[in-house]
Amino acid sequence: MSPPTSTRSTLAEALRGWPPPPLDPAGPHSGVVATLSWVLFGMFLAVLLVVAAALVIALFGKPEWRARVARERVIWIGGLAFPIVVLTALLVWSLTMTRDLTAPPAAGEMRVRVTGEMWWWRVAYLDGAGQAAILDANELHIPVGRPVTLELEAADVIHSFWVPRLAGKLDMIPGRRNVMRIQADAPGVYAGQCAEYCGGPHALMGFVVVAHAPADFERWRAERLAPPPPPPDAFAARGAEVFAANGCGACHRVRGTTANGLAGPDLSYVGSRRSLGAGILPNNQGTLAGWIADSQAIKPGNRMPPYKVLTGEDLRAVAAWLGSRK
Ligand code: CUA
Repeated sequence: MSPPTSTRSTLAEALRGWPPPPLDPAGPHSGVVATLSWVLFGMFLAVLLVVAAALVIALFGKPEWRARVARERVIWIGGLAFPIVVLTALLVWSLTMTRDLTAPPAAGEMRVRVTGEMWWWRVAYLDGAGQAAILDANELHIPVGRPVTLELEAADVIHSFWVPRLAGKLDMIPGRRNVMRIQADAPGVYAGQCAEYCGGPHALMGFVVVAHAPADFERWRAERLAPPPPPPDAFAARGAEVFAANGCGACHRVRGTTANGLAGPDLSYVGSRRSLGAGILPNNQGTLAGWIADSQAIKPGNRMPPYKVLTGEDLRAVAAWLGSRK
């Protein structure tokens, strides 16, 4: 396991470097997007050069050259026939290229439902019957080399799912289910970001996709399906009591406990996440305690109320317990 990183800075740093993530594909579906981008950019450059050349000739060319570009036939061919043919060909080609990005899932294909919420991501790994087998939040685990079908939904307003190195953007629209396919060719952590303005903390709605080698993925899945471990020590056990006594379970589910709330992110495995607050903070006991005490100072407008009433000792105990949930 790699050390926790702030995914927001990862994406921001990546966007400052070259190539930017959308042009640095790490899977076949993002490869389609990168290919389309380069071809369209090449076409744009070619047309720009031709138009600029015609402009230079029209302004400064010899009289016989100027007469040539002023012919009516040039307008008919260059201004009408050429765009119709080229744009139609590009449309057909791009629709063909992107067709299987949204095709219905094949039998046996792994399916994950990702729901955009203000301002985090609900993640449910579905079993063969389409039921949620594993619940999680803000992090998506996939095996490498296999297509994974994502069912993208929204609970409140329109969000947009975007992991630039794995696939293009797709909107998450209330009342609709949009299907997207992603695949990673190599193990790694791929940063994602909500790509549709969804209210105040929209820019702080990040997430990560963690791609595992197949054997590692099976191990991860077996761990998630096994009964969760009890608190490792008395301090963490006290944290579990503080969590229960302060009603945290009304909004958060922690598998294997009485906490069963579904309004906020599932915390069953929050200790294993690479980030907190939907991709904006590194995950450790200090940031966990700080988030619980006053998340409004970190991510203004988010739906979690501050818990400044908790003593420092209680905060540390809750953070120790949640941090042990891996
Ligand atoms: Cu969710 Cu922007």
